[in-house]
Amino acid sequence: MSEIEVFHKQLDEATAFIRSQTDFKPTIGIILGTGLGSLVDGIEMVATVDYDKIPHFPVSTVESHAGRLLLGHLRGKAVICMQGRFHYYEGYSFQQIAFPVRVLKALGMETLIVSNAAGGLNPNFKPGDIMLIKDHINFFPGNPLIGANDNQWGDRFPDMYEVYNRHYQSLAKEVALEQKLRLQEGVYLGLTGPCLETAAEYRMFRGFGADAVGMSTVPEVLAAHHQHNKILAFSIITDMGLPDAMHPCSLEDVIGTASRTEPLLRDLIAGCVEKM
Ligand code: HPA
Repeated sequence: MSEIEVFHKQLDEATAFIRSQTDFKPTIGIILGTGLGSLVDGIEMVATVDYDKIPHFPVSTVESHAGRLLLGHLRGKAVICMQGRFHYYEGYSFQQIAFPVRVLKALGMETLIVSNAAGGLNPNFKPGDIMLIKDHINFFPGNPLIGANDNQWGDRFPDMYEVYNRHYQSLAKEVALEQKLRLQEGVYLGLTGPCLETAAEYRMFRGFGADAVGMSTVPEVLAAHHQHNKILAFSIITDMGLPDAMHPCSLEDVIGTASRTEPLLRDLIAGCVEKM
């Protein structure tokens, strides 16, 4: 079997298993990042499927991430949420990280909403801010689109025009205004982790034009963009990477700030979904 045939077989088996559990047809996919799990509170659940039951699905190793798909209605829209995501630092390949996105697409997804925790580089930001991602820098040592290309999924050389949907960006700003939420915006730089950055690296990334830095999102977004999904993405700024004002940063700090900010992001995303 060719690389693409193997991939299709795995995808078909994963999709068939989920379909055997529910015939629910989601159109909006949501990837819940660090500390953002309770975004699901507003969902009228139709079905849940544990990752470890789905053939070929990677299994999350990070304790702060549950591992299941949640299918249901959020503000009247049919959504599928990934509660728990996969990071390159856990040892997954970029293809493995992208696999769930391909599965979501096969189930009917047209729009992908992504959230993450990130370190702020823009000195106008502060911990607890929410940043609308307008663009990204792929600083990972790879790309899930490397390898044989399935032309039915997307182009061999996808252009990177409007990866983050402009209409949805306007929608997010509108909703933020209604909710009296200060919404920052900027460029997300994705890299491997698991180390946070040195002062020299924060300085360099700021010089590159990044406003925030984190360890996820870019691989999933590349796969979702390849398959022509509309993408809306947010970072919770959990800590600041200011090279001249460095201080210790623990996982507890990151998760604590993400949890405190989570209700704001939850309402923002729910408000956006309602208007989609
Ligand atoms: N750097 C990288 N990833 C992160 C950070 C950071 O400072 N904060 C949260 N995720």
